[in-house]
Amino acid sequence: MKRIGMLTSGGDCQALNAAMRGVVKTLANADEEVEIYGFLDGYRGLIYGNFRMLSSSDFSGILTKGGTILGSSRTPFKLIREPDENGVDKVEAMKQNYHKLKLDCLVILGGNGTHKTANLLREEGLNVVTLPKTIDNDLWGTDMTFGFQSAVDIATECIDCIHTTASSHGRVFIVEVMGHKVGWLTLNAGMAGGADIILLPEIPYDINKVVEAIKKRTERGSRFTILAVAEGAISKEDAKLSKKEYKEKMKNNPYPSVSYEVAAKIQKLTGQEVRVTVPGHTQRGGSPCPYDRVFASRLGAEAGKLILKGEYGFMVGIKNREIVKVPLEDVAGKLKMVDPDATIVKEAKLLGISFGD
Ligand code: F6P
Repeated sequence: MKRIGMLTSGGDCQALNAAMRGVVKTLANADEEVEIYGFLDGYRGLIYGNFRMLSSSDFSGILTKGGTILGSSRTPFKLIREPDENGVDKVEAMKQNYHKLKLDCLVILGGNGTHKTANLLREEGLNVVTLPKTIDNDLWGTDMTFGFQSAVDIATECIDCIHTTASSHGRVFIVEVMGHKVGWLTLNAGMAGGADIILLPEIPYDINKVVEAIKKRTERGSRFTILAVAEGAISKEDAKLSKKEYKEKMKNNPYPSVSYEVAAKIQKLTGQEVRVTVPGHTQRGGSPCPYDRVFASRLGAEAGKLILKGEYGFMVGIKNREIVKVPLEDVAGKLKMVDPDATIVKEAKLLGISFGD
């Protein structure tokens, strides 16, 4: 008999349900008797003992369902050691609930912050297996996270739609793509959608180079220019500032996000009309794409296998198309960023895409 706690933490994404289903199906097919404790709304459920007992049937019919049947929330890692407003020690509370329910392990699905807390729980002696979810694809130790490909599809479709309008109107269009502090989503959706300019956090931009690229297109007879701008894109000047100086500068920033700032500068320097589109949370929504359904199911199956063998303390990820287990201590606290010298960036440049650098 295995008693398993399961939770989804941080921003949701596609294929969370598919991954959980993969774990549960694998355990059920092994004829192992299991009790599943589904903690609600991420670590919050584990801290405050909010859970639902789940059976295999709860995981039926959810392969294609977006969101998470367990709910999610953000529990910032930097506050995890701080007592809550009622003085509850969050880490102690999680440990107590784990032991009270006599759990064999926790299955934790999440991104960067989630993995830091998962590793902390491991250090505190709990058995943990994690699965890498996030549309940002910024988790270290895995070539890909689930949710990413589905988000690429949505962001690409947004750029595709903008393309038709851009060609009718002959304006400059900016599509702002999610991804937090990394540019994987923007780079991939930008290339897939045929963006002319791609601005990434990892390659600080020079607005004059951006304008140069737009003018070049106009001179060659193009009626429009499309920019895919990562929400974390940063100018060369701002990238030189210290964290404190940047924070101070942002206090007086009149723009709702980086795209609006880039748009204002382009409009001023070129005189061309600029429009901004922000698909925002639509990128995390809807049904997972087929790639993510397969990928998350594979991860879930391998996680189930680890649990059956009693191997804990790992994230299940993918390397060179094979599913692998990566020690949690190696994953926690590291970001996987786009390397500005990566071949994909060089190839994009060969295609004539400007990165504003
Ligand atoms: O980490 C996923 C993500 O969608 C990021 O791309 C984005 O910066 C962030 O979450 C948005 O967070 P929230 O849903 O809390 O606004």
